[in-house]
Amino acid sequence: MQRASLAPTAHIFVCANQRAEGDVLGPGCSEAGEALFNELKREVARRGALATLWVTKTHCLGICPKQGAACAIYPKQLIVTEAISNDAPRLVSLARGDKP
Ligand code: FES
Repeated sequence: MQRASLAPTAHIFVCANQRAEGDVLGPGCSEAGEALFNELKREVARRGALATLWVTKTHCLGICPKQGAACAIYPKQLIVTEAISNDAPRLVSLARGDKP
């Protein structure tokens, strides 16, 4: 094992888990997660923060909102649920610790 030479200062994990139709656990974050992931990537690029703020698409984070998507922000240890793509600027600000 070797330690990588780069690491982000913050990392947002976005659930885009998709379950089969009729699954008792619901459809998963699915399209909402995909849309949020894409918008977060655009927002991070717009702010020139690609090297320091990483955004990664994941499977289920265990929260499974009825609408929107779940995401986890580290090292802030924030779990956000029911997020939609319009929330991307605010989530990036939260991850970076920007002052409101
Ligand atoms: S399906 Fe997204 S948190 Fe479970």
